[in-house]
Amino acid sequence: MNNKLFDELKHLLPDFSEINDKGHLQISGLDLVDLVSKFGSPLYIYEENTIRNLAKSFKEEFESRYKNVHVSYSSKAFSNPALVKILNEEGLGIDVVSRGELEVLLRSEFPMNKVNFHGNNKSEEELAEAIDQKIGLITIDSFHEMNILDKLCEKRAIKQDIILRLSPSVDPHTHELTSTGILDTKFGFSIETGEAKKALQISSRKNNLNLKGIHFHLGSPIFELNPYSQAINYVFDFIKESYPSSSDLEIFNVGGGFAVPYIIDDQKVEIEHYAETICKSVKKKVEKLGMPEPQLVIEPGRAIVARSGVAIYTVGGIKEIPKIRTYVSVDGGMADNIRPALYGAKYSTISVNKTLEPHINMVTIAGKYCETGDKLSENTLLPQVEPGDLIAILTSGAYNISMSSNYNMSLRPAILLLNNGISKVIKRRETYDDLLSTSNL
Ligand SMILES: Cc1ncc(COP(=O)(O)O)c(C=O)c1O
Repeated sequence: MNNKLFDELKHLLPDFSEINDKGHLQISGLDLVDLVSKFGSPLYIYEENTIRNLAKSFKEEFESRYKNVHVSYSSKAFSNPALVKILNEEGLGIDVVSRGELEVLLRSEFPMNKVNFHGNNKSEEELAEAIDQKIGLITIDSFHEMNILDKLCEKRAIKQDIILRLSPSVDPHTHELTSTGILDTKFGFSIETGEAKKALQISSRKNNLNLKGIHFHLGSPIFELNPYSQAINYVFDFIKESYPSSSDLEIFNVGGGFAVPYIIDDQKVEIEHYAETICKSVKKKVEKLGMPEPQLVIEPGRAIVARSGVAIYTVGGIKEIPKIRTYVSVDGGMADNIRPALYGAKYSTISVNKTLEPHINMVTIAGKYCETGDKLSENTLLPQVEPGDLIAILTSGAYNISMSSNYNMSLRPAILLLNNGISKVIKRRETYDDLLSTSNL
């Protein structure tokens, strides 16, 4: 069954989404109302084939345009052993930014030679564990870290492959809290200040570090293509001038930041457009500079998992303030999705159990946590809702669960992976025992 709203939202929903004959939202052949009765609310679901298809698209679109590409999923967007297994099967690498994200990969038996360790302040313990686990690559972000890593490797008599994170001072025109490649950022060695040149020289002389290339990440989400080509041209000019002659530029990593639409008005940038711009810019530039083509690395996070995920909440209290606003409170909020409160992220919503009813009431969906800013979606259209109704918040697969907390001593929701009519709990709902397991009673 279809209706106009559903059609308009289709590109924000996971593959295999439909309205069933009860008028309920159904994904992968599973009625979301039934899933909530079985697994409780709030509930997060991920549709497996959506993830697989997007992972395949990244590989295909880039590999068909450039001969040596490595796609490395940025696991900060969402980290879970089930996802790691899927991405391994799809042939992706994975990057981590913490010992915890590394632990997920270790316990999932992900090949360590396909892992890259990012982060602007990796501790000595984190670096030691990474090299002891024979991690493929470490992205160096500061002189402090470079020195620690060199010493750790010296002690073990090993040479670790590294790349350097550069900050190219290119503005990707995204939210200031998610811009990372501008001059005023905590990340990377700045090209503009001369630190990047110094870092290349020093790292290439370290006996226990093997400099393999460079990395930059401009920010996220980036809806424009121009910042990528601008940064690629700028960084290659810098490399031509400053890359040490004793090392080869084997890896050229342009980071992630590939945008996805969250609301109907958001622009949809296709993966092929990013691929076309990035591959063409790199090829053109290396040809012009007379350099060999390095391996091109991309690090999509959000664009692989956002659309596959849907958050489902149950409506509780409804507060009408005449002529001002109607608040519809739900049983989750900023503890499972802090993005609206943190940087004004917007989401599309649809009723789960009244999907076919006209969505004509303008409401604000409020979370249940004790913060005025705890709103999941402002001024969104829903049908006439009442306590007990279910609401789906779309494109909830990236940076929701991974940024979640136990604020107000709340329990994190369960997460299901759906595939072809089968649901699998990939993370069970937390319990109060979990909550108190680290406290001394
Ligand atoms: C170094 C690096 N690579 C990749 C990403 C992934 O970004 P996105 O999820 O927007 O693709 C991030 C996100 O912050 C990042 O910091």
